[in-house]
Amino acid sequence: IDHYRTTTFPVGIHTFQSISSTNDYAKQFGSSQDFAVPQVFVADTQTKGHGRLGRHFYSPIKGGIYLSILIPLQNRRPIHSGLITTGTAVCVVRTLQQFFPDEDFRVKWVNDILVHDKKCGGILTETISSLEDGLHEDVVVGIGLNIDSAGFPDQISHKAGAIVASTTIDKNRIAAGIIDNFFYLYQTYTSGNFLEEYARLSETLGKRVQIVMGNQTITGLADHFTGDGALVVQQDSGVQVTVSSGEVTKVYL
Ligand code: BTN
Repeated sequence: IDHYRTTTFPVGIHTFQSISSTNDYAKQFGSSQDFAVPQVFVADTQTKGHGRLGRHFYSPIKGGIYLSILIPLQNRRPIHSGLITTGTAVCVVRTLQQFFPDEDFRVKWVNDILVHDKKCGGILTETISSLEDGLHEDVVVGIGLNIDSAGFPDQISHKAGAIVASTTIDKNRIAAGIIDNFFYLYQTYTSGNFLEEYARLSETLGKRVQIVMGNQTITGLADHFTGDGALVVQQDSGVQVTVSSGEVTKVYL
């Protein structure tokens, strides 16, 4: 997909056979040059893929999709990171449902994509505080998906999930579908109009959760999402706490 035009508007596409991390590359790109339209970075493999909280994201094999979307924010309102992350999860699942209609995909708050109760993907949203005035923030949304587990070594396959054992579906088509769905949703994402769908896909709602935020731990029922994509937890004491994704270090189910 070297030359790609989304159904909604043009984007730049950069493809790599191997890269350290598409998110790192996109951040570097975004902080070193001006770009008028969003830029997408897609790699067959990554040597240093990472997830939230500095975790490693296993991605040295070709069975996955590793891509980052860099969004310029000059002259635009700042990104709403709670909504962009939940919205991206919805886009990813919509795409996967098109390609794998028999699978039941779920989303674990905030950004884990689950299949067969195992994590098969994640989303890492990072901001680049950039530019002279320090006001504009470009955003990088990174998406990692384990499509097939064919190349998984043993020590990975008992931790990480994949969607199928092997597939002949062209991963570029899935990547293109995700990019299309992303930019379609991006036009209206601040309305949060996808949040009902997000709630329907949620593995977390209605469950007992324990959320670690720095040195504070909250235990209770995952009750509902706010219009900002934050999670409201009904604590055992009856007190409700609203937790936004940025604060969380761990969610136990
Ligand atoms: C998570 O599970 O916490 C998020 C995982 C995000 C992984 C993707 S793969 C493409 C992009 N590049 C990275 O280094 N990370 C994201």
